Amino acid sequence: MGRLDDKIALVTGAAGSIGAASARLLVAEGARVVISDLDADRLDALVAELGEESAAALVADVTDSDAVAATVALAVERFGGLDVAFANAGIFGVPAPIVDYPVDVFDQVMAVNVRGPFLVAKHAMASMRDGGSLIFTSSVVGLTSDAGICAYATSKHALVGLMRTAAKEGAPRRIRVNTIHPGPVDNEFQHSIEERATGQSRDKAAEIFEGMIPLGRHATAEEVAHLVLYLAADESAFVTGAALPIDGGMSA
Ligand SMILES: NC(=O)c1ccc[n+]([C@@H]2O[C@H](COP(=O)([O-])OP(=O)(O)OC[C@H]3O[C@@H](n4cnc5c(N)ncnc54)[C@H](O)[C@@H]3O)[C@@H](O)[C@H]2O)c1
Repeated sequence: MGRLDDKIALVTGAAGSIGAASARLLVAEGARVVISDLDADRLDALVAELGEESAAALVADVTDSDAVAATVALAVERFGGLDVAFANAGIFGVPAPIVDYPVDVFDQVMAVNVRGPFLVAKHAMASMRDGGSLIFTSSVVGLTSDAGICAYATSKHALVGLMRTAAKEGAPRRIRVNTIHPGPVDNEFQHSIEERATGQSRDKAAEIFEGMIPLGRHATAEEVAHLVLYLAADESAFVTGAALPIDGGMSA
């Protein structure tokens, strides 16, 4: 018996670190998943790993409404419904103060990190079965912020507003909506941010960041996946409208 037997899930950004770890754990607990991303090769490799009876992939840009609708349709057509949508694809942009921040990069970050999850909510909630779960990947900087990250922090704060609205709209059908707020994760996405933010080597930059985390280390993608699993499963049936940090105390 898995914790997600009979559930069908959609994961965006599934070729990436947190998305792939989550897709693996959801399938390990009995779910069938539709995985989407821009990276076709990594999606194909993940389907091969998870097995075609448990996973189907679609290359889809989350900023494209028709493409997001097609991923939802794939879940319904291939597996018979949709119970869980994990809107997880995201980009960082560049580190720069507001006065220097490139407007086109700001727009791109908002498109992927806000319009994308909005489109996932829009199309997934329309098809989701009663009692479903919608999960957005925000960030510790969806609750706090720092200099130099205006686009990223603004986009991740915006998800809290989207989540609170969706939680109220989904409640009559017991659809739960929550944001998760990871702190720095030990993966390429974060190490590249740390190197650019500090101008230091990967190891030195990681050490500087770990000095800002009360638990003194990065998270693993698998730890984040376990929070996704909890929110996907019926054991979190009374959790909605919540912004859940998983940040080693960084936002405390
Ligand atoms: N890594 C961290 O420390 C950290 C901390 C907090 C929040 N997050 C958030 O977690 C999420 C996943 O990040 P990750 O750490 O796994 O990084 P990642 O770069 O490994 O994964 C992100 C994935 O999103 C995909 N993607 C980017 N733009 C897309 C688009 N337009 N359409 C579809 N897919 C697109 C990428 O191809 C990539 O596979 C992101 O939303 C990120 O902001 C990460």
